[in-house]
Amino acid sequence: HHTPLIAPSILSADFAKLGAEIDDVLSGGGDFLHLDVMDGHFVPNISFGPPIIKSTRRHTKTFLDAHLMISEPLRYAKAMVDAGADLLTYHVEAVNDVAATAREIRKLGCRVGITLNPATPIETVFPALDAVDLVLIMSVVPGFSGQKFMPEVLAKAETVKRRLRADQRLEIDGGVNADTIRSCLNAGVDWFVVASAIFDKPDRADAIAHLRSRMAG
Ligand code: DX5
Ligand code: ZN
Repeated sequence: HHTPLIAPSILSADFAKLGAEIDDVLSGGGDFLHLDVMDGHFVPNISFGPPIIKSTRRHTKTFLDAHLMISEPLRYAKAMVDAGADLLTYHVEAVNDVAATAREIRKLGCRVGITLNPATPIETVFPALDAVDLVLIMSVVPGFSGQKFMPEVLAKAETVKRRLRADQRLEIDGGVNADTIRSCLNAGVDWFVVASAIFDKPDRADAIAHLRSRMAG
């Protein structure tokens, strides 16, 4: 097992004070940041793009994990890397050739992740497995924070975990909170994305410590 890492998603932050929000969750024990990029086309919501990634990069040295909920990820990948993203995760549903997409993103000099919606079979990521650093299991239909965790996706986590190399990571995103995080850990998840269960709490350090305590037992 790798050390479990908690990635606060700034989707639930107050964007009018983003720097202070980032400082709060990182000093409070968050391991790195998850950045949810939404285009209003691949998902029915619009969040932010390269300008916010760039501002975030200027504010912190932490690892920036960009989750691209966008159509045509290759069209915008370079802009995301230039803005400072360390990892780009694309959706299998958004591309024609999943393995070629991973190779094209890697050429930009960043890490590469692949993800899939809850209704998408796990076999769809297999052609790209050798070419990615990370597989992200979506445990909600992407588009919004604050949705209910879908436990049925844990079977996909277990299936893909068995196929990952030691240098690859398994991440989960959506509805992760104190009640659901342990089941994710048991399914083999290494990285835990959390938006509302951290940002909606008055004391973020306390919220993160609580999540860690629930992983311990
Ligand atoms: C969902 C996003 C998630 C979201 C998670 O579309 O990809 O990263 O911010 O929010 P919570 O943790 O509140 O489910
Ligand atoms: Zn996300």
